[in-house]
Amino acid sequence: MSEFLPEWLDLREPADLRARSSEVTNAVSARFALRDHVRVLDLGSGTGANLRATAPLLPKRQTWKLVDREADLHGAAKSRLIVWADSAECLGDDVRLHKDGREIDVIFTVADLASETKYLVDELLDLVTASAFFDLASEDYIRVLAKAVSDRRTAFYATLTYNGQRRWTPHRPADNQMASAFHRHQLRDKGLGNAAGPLASAHLADQFRLNGYAVIEGDSNWRLERSERMLIEELVRGHAVAASEIGGIDAKTIVDWINVPRTGAVVGHTDTFAIPAS
Ligand SMILES: C[S@@+](CC[C@H](N)C(=O)[O-])C[C@H]1O[C@@H](n2cnc3c(N)ncnc32)[C@H](O)[C@@H]1O
Repeated sequence: MSEFLPEWLDLREPADLRARSSEVTNAVSARFALRDHVRVLDLGSGTGANLRATAPLLPKRQTWKLVDREADLHGAAKSRLIVWADSAECLGDDVRLHKDGREIDVIFTVADLASETKYLVDELLDLVTASAFFDLASEDYIRVLAKAVSDRRTAFYATLTYNGQRRWTPHRPADNQMASAFHRHQLRDKGLGNAAGPLASAHLADQFRLNGYAVIEGDSNWRLERSERMLIEELVRGHAVAASEIGGIDAKTIVDWINVPRTGAVVGHTDTFAIPAS
């Protein structure tokens, strides 16, 4: 079973959509404004949230390849995309969506990006994108990916890369200890080498600049309030599980920390758009 349950991805989708940097989305729209058709590769596509959020920025005809190692998530993505669209046609395993005057062909590919990224990026593409993905990847993975994308002079858009900022309301002294346990856990290997975690967006910007790209970055922080209690509680639970797994904090501290009633949370993310500089 996937580490990323569809229920968790559903819970975060509205917060993700609201958080995206408008400076970066404007740059993405502007880049493709004169195009009729774009071919897009979405890395770690989950339930298809990145397509739902990014398609409105792109031209009337789009072909998306959604790549995930979890076939179950593709099933969840297909059903959610069909509900999201104004109308849909199934074309074998793939699907054609009509949404707000756009025609969007979606191809679902099950692949482990640890071994397949180079081949996938090597296809004829206009945009390589990912959301909430790169903090899972290693610095090395990011370096190789940036080189492969740049070799093809393809545009690149990574959104909602976790950047290490985390603030709870109310603040408690154990917050810092829990955050550091969470970060130690984040740096473990999630299948793409030892994860860059909070440093991933800095590595993305550095690597694309080194390959001669112009990079635009913007904040896409979650600013969660009382009304998003379920998402806050799920974040708290995720921290507690990570802290228990990684060790170093006694069980009572973790239990006391979980039981603090929280009314808000800020979670820092960065959006990155990179295009060939000339
Ligand atoms: C945090 S989820 C984000 C999903 C989606 N992009 C979104 O924004 O809701 C990360 C996704 O990356 C996928 N993933 C992680 N490692 C992968 C790998 N090595 N190969 C393919 N997919 C991977 C997971 O299965 C999961 O769907």
